[in-house]
Amino acid sequence: MIKIRNDNIEDAEKIYQLIKQAFESAEHSDGNEHILAAELRNGSSLIPQLSLVAELNNQIVGCVMFSKIHINGYEEAALAPLAVLPEYQFQGIGSALVAQGHKIAKQLGYHYSIVLGDPQYYSRFGYVSASVYNIKAPFKVDDKYFMALKLNEDKSNNIEGIVAYPKEFGI
Ligand SMILES: CC(C)(COP(=O)(O)OP(=O)(O)OC[C@H]1O[C@@H](n2cnc3c(N)ncnc32)[C@H](O)[C@@H]1OP(=O)(O)O)[C@@H](O)C(=O)NCCC(=O)NCCS
Repeated sequence: MIKIRNDNIEDAEKIYQLIKQAFESAEHSDGNEHILAAELRNGSSLIPQLSLVAELNNQIVGCVMFSKIHINGYEEAALAPLAVLPEYQFQGIGSALVAQGHKIAKQLGYHYSIVLGDPQYYSRFGYVSASVYNIKAPFKVDDKYFMALKLNEDKSNNIEGIVAYPKEFGI
């Protein structure tokens, strides 16, 4: 039975190795996702309640992190990275991590989650091209890969603008 929980300092090394291993065989990777994750953990941009691990039989098999970004001055959330150990992929673990992350993000009052990733994967959670919401990337990217999910449907909360990433992302 999969258990999703908040990570803690003792998990840091396991998470580092897990992300490194997961992205080694990934189609889209710059090979630095584990370094980004470590920098986010050591910095102040990671949303602590949104740094989650998935455990199976007391072993950490997946993780997801959401960090603070800003859109037009509003603090919102960005998902990165998401990783599941290769031998545990295709069992719903990535989806469970993302779903739990969205639930908590919503409870925390975030309106949007932003992700740079594969539309085939992230569309299943409701992500669409961020441009649909007039949210733009601060770098050049094919529209379909830069996505946003509106966490609550209240139109009065619509926020538009260019995403400002924290320094850990090196953008
Ligand atoms: C992407 C990843 C987190 C998915 O985790 P997972 O636990 O295997 O995902 P789930 O079991 O919840 O979902 C499986 C579904 O996702 C699809 N999927 C898995 N990896 C995918 C990928 N890289 N791109 C597109 N679809 C993917 C599968 O085809 C499957 O689709 P189906 O439900 O239609 O059969 C995992 O494959 C991983 O760690 N990959 C390497 C790192 C990576 O690419 N992270 C995402 C960065 S954008």
